[in-house]
Amino acid sequence: MEDAIILYASAEHLNSMLVLAKFISKHHPKISVIILSSAADSAAASVAAVPSITYRRLPAAALPPNLTANPVELFFEIPRLNNPNLKEALTEISQKSTIRAFVIDFFCNSAFEVSTELSIPTYYYVSSGAFGLCAFLYVPTIDETIPQDIGELNDFIEVPGCPPLYSLDFPNGLFFRQSNTYKHFLCTAKNMRKSAGIVVNAFDALEFRAKEALSSGLCIPDAPTPPVYLVGPLIGESNTKTGGVEHECLSWLDSPPSKSVIFLCFGRRGLFSAAQLKETALGLENSGHRFLWSVRSPPGKRGSSPADEPDLDELLPEGFLERTKDRGFVVKSWAPQKEVLSHDSVAGFVTHCGRSSILEALSFGVPMIGWPIYAEQRMNRVFMVEEMKVALPLDEAPDGFVTAAELEKRVREMFESKMGRAVRVRVAELKKAAEAAVRENGSSVVALGKFVESVSR
Ligand SMILES: *[C@@H]1O[C@H](CO)[C@@H](O)[C@H](O)[C@H]1NC(C)=O
Repeated sequence: MEDAIILYASAEHLNSMLVLAKFISKHHPKISVIILSSAADSAAASVAAVPSITYRRLPAAALPPNLTANPVELFFEIPRLNNPNLKEALTEISQKSTIRAFVIDFFCNSAFEVSTELSIPTYYYVSSGAFGLCAFLYVPTIDETIPQDIGELNDFIEVPGCPPLYSLDFPNGLFFRQSNTYKHFLCTAKNMRKSAGIVVNAFDALEFRAKEALSSGLCIPDAPTPPVYLVGPLIGESNTKTGGVEHECLSWLDSPPSKSVIFLCFGRRGLFSAAQLKETALGLENSGHRFLWSVRSPPGKRGSSPADEPDLDELLPEGFLERTKDRGFVVKSWAPQKEVLSHDSVAGFVTHCGRSSILEALSFGVPMIGWPIYAEQRMNRVFMVEEMKVALPLDEAPDGFVTAAELEKRVREMFESKMGRAVRVRVAELKKAAEAAVRENGSSVVALGKFVESVSR
């Protein structure tokens, strides 16, 4: 029977898990990799040409009509409802292959009980990095030792491997112990502590302190820490050229001088109010610097679905587009983020601090300004600013509002200050380190080798 590694991906993390599959097959082509997911087959196209990778779509279980769940709960609920389909698939696969490892995505935590029952060695895949993993693995300890809800603590929490983290910088799903989201997170952290190992989209040079804390066992105080493998950066492929036509913002970028444009783009769910859009426009205008800005319709407005275009005349200050036409470019809705980041004109990236955006920016050597919006992004910003030193901070009001003056100040800092220069130099170093990590004998290739060796034993 042939050996197989199975990767079980939620729709949220399918892209980076496909890259993980390709990374495994590039360095270990004899092992067959099976990707299981109930996400659409369209993603499978990117691995169709790789002989050692199979994409297997799980049928999606129907959601109960009375289900009331927030989006994060749903990410956990969908795989849970799919457990019977998963069990069937695993049983079938194990008749033809020896399943050496079953690697489950964070959101597919409910699969842990299925694979454990079938005695399949179960690993976790963590897309959010090594610092984030330190904090996450420490959650059961916080749960036992801190009596208040994190959302009401209003204090710093000390987590091994991390700088002190302010309670409100934790993902809000962890704020209240009574919430279903908290229960999913806690259960995931507890299972992860018992897993056979953890595969992380990270590389040594970026998160060395966290790696040390993990391998010294500091983040799980009263039990052994499973082996942790940093195998990144795993960056999804771009699918931005529609019919081979280049996006007009890329041709616009060809004119400005090298490293002169600030790029603003905030991810799939990064939507701002009309007031925040106007304020942002003002900050950019007052900074005097060149910018490329991806603007999306405010939430709840007609046009808030990704395909719909925002009405710029209504949303932006009067005359803004005319006054900044020589140094600014506004993209309605989507900008091809990776292509923009790889363009020589781009000097800095105002980002929502999502993990894939951070890794993309680093891979192209673009320093960042951190403007977090949801999930673990506030915590990511702390790591980016205080530990990785790859981003300038941005101070927002408690409700998240960022003033024009604050944005102007940070954009100017990026170009004009010693801090901006330090971040730029650091990011240039990390770009080289990221390339080295995935080359022969690089830290991520070595870590992947250890993972494959340990599962093949
Ligand atoms: C990688 O390491 C092996 C074993 O130490 C060595 O023989 C080989 O030359 C190295 N390759 C590179 C590209 O450094």
